[in-house]
Amino acid sequence: MTESDISDLNVVILAAGKGTRMYSSLPKVLHALAGKPLLGHVIDTAKTLNPARIVVVYGHGGDQVPDAFAKAGVQFVKQEPQLGTGHAVQQAMPLLPASGLTLILYGDVPLTRPETLTAVCRHPSTLTVLTAHLANSTGYGRIIRDVSGKFLRMVEEKDATAEEKAVREINTGIVAAPTAMLIDWLKALRNNNVQKEYYLTDIVPQAVAAGLTVQSVNAANEWEIAGVNSRTQLAELERRYQLEYAEKLMARGVTLRDPARIDIRGELVCGQDVEIDVNCVFEGRVTLGDGVRIGAHCVLKDADIGAGTVVAPMSHIDSARCAADCRIGPYARLRPGAVLGAHAHVGNFVEMKKVELGEGSKVNHLTYLGDATIGRNVNVGAGTITCNYDGVNKFRTVIEDDAFIGSDTQLVAPVTVGRGATLGAGTTLTKDAPAGELTISRAKQTTIVGWKRPTKKKVT
Ligand code: UD1
Ligand code: MG
Repeated sequence: MTESDISDLNVVILAAGKGTRMYSSLPKVLHALAGKPLLGHVIDTAKTLNPARIVVVYGHGGDQVPDAFAKAGVQFVKQEPQLGTGHAVQQAMPLLPASGLTLILYGDVPLTRPETLTAVCRHPSTLTVLTAHLANSTGYGRIIRDVSGKFLRMVEEKDATAEEKAVREINTGIVAAPTAMLIDWLKALRNNNVQKEYYLTDIVPQAVAAGLTVQSVNAANEWEIAGVNSRTQLAELERRYQLEYAEKLMARGVTLRDPARIDIRGELVCGQDVEIDVNCVFEGRVTLGDGVRIGAHCVLKDADIGAGTVVAPMSHIDSARCAADCRIGPYARLRPGAVLGAHAHVGNFVEMKKVELGEGSKVNHLTYLGDATIGRNVNVGAGTITCNYDGVNKFRTVIEDDAFIGSDTQLVAPVTVGRGATLGAGTTLTKDAPAGELTISRAKQTTIVGWKRPTKKKVT
């Protein structure tokens, strides 16, 4: 194996801890950061290193952890009881071949960058520890070196002397070691310490005794090594993640009105000169074409927005897409299967579900359209409703090109409005409307001449 070759790599992720300070029935590693469980971040980062295997050591919360990641292509091993980090790694070793390198990660440390882990794996013939220099090292294991700077051992805070506690270089917990050696070192661990635990950190003196030079890699950013122990720390890391994402978007030419007020819970792919106003949430995979403008307080999930489209404030778009130059909102709701052609307009308080709206068509106000196919250049008036559901089954409405639907119309599906047809305002359409004609269902208007309003009766 060469210095840069980490092809014979296995990853062990420790995730058995209880997460007491989360005060939750959900195992800590299943709490979401940017819409994805903490453990999901760690698994995804581990996968970028192309390891042969990823083994997750779990414990608390029954089978919730393996169930949540049943399709993640990782293996699980249960640690019960939890007797420390060294004991946790021991549980995974029977699943690993006694060759190559083992990288140990924590399931509650979600934001380590792949570059940092690659650096930790760069010395496959010795033990490498990811360390950090912290202004406040309270709570962490300290790195103990000799006067020449040689890495000798690590000491847990609870076992440390006052002098050792003053050390600012800490153990992040992330280490890489040659698997064959790791197996031997783990066997030799003893729990003769304050916590009566089998400390993984006690492998360091064994490596030193074996004549190895223990390597350390210093983490470039504090957030890369930060773990989540409480809801406050989860919220802090969430904001950190979002800010990093926002900065990446801005570096690629996206205007964010406030990079501190955006939430991306998935992947946001933007063209050039996209503008995003404050407090928007993007979930799943969202693509915004060149020049798209998203107004304040919009929520977009699994959406594909065509170039030049303007989404006005307070709009909600879920599993829908639109072609170029559409106008959506304010207060529009596009539900799954809404598909807009180019130059279509969808205005305020319009809800659309499983609807194809043709090029240049307009649905501007207070309307529900469901299970409908609508042609080009159709105008749908205010207060239009497709009555698509009879309580049991759903039916389709078809509105052909150039039709004009008067306000306050109900289209009782299945029904078709022919090309160029006009429906008078207030129509309840129960039969197909022929092309090119005016169809209207409305009681005839009458005037009662000389009718007088009642007057208030005198109380005697
Ligand atoms: C550990 C390190 C410490 C380091 C710190 C970084 C040891 C002995 N100490 O301390 O040097 O500075 O992390 O945060 O390694 N876990 C299990 N099974 C167990 C115990 C822990 O899976 O039996 C998992 C936890 O879920 C967690 C990780 O291992 O993801 C670390 O456990 P934690 O109890 O937080 O260790 P610390 O005492 O903080
Ligand atoms: Mg800890």
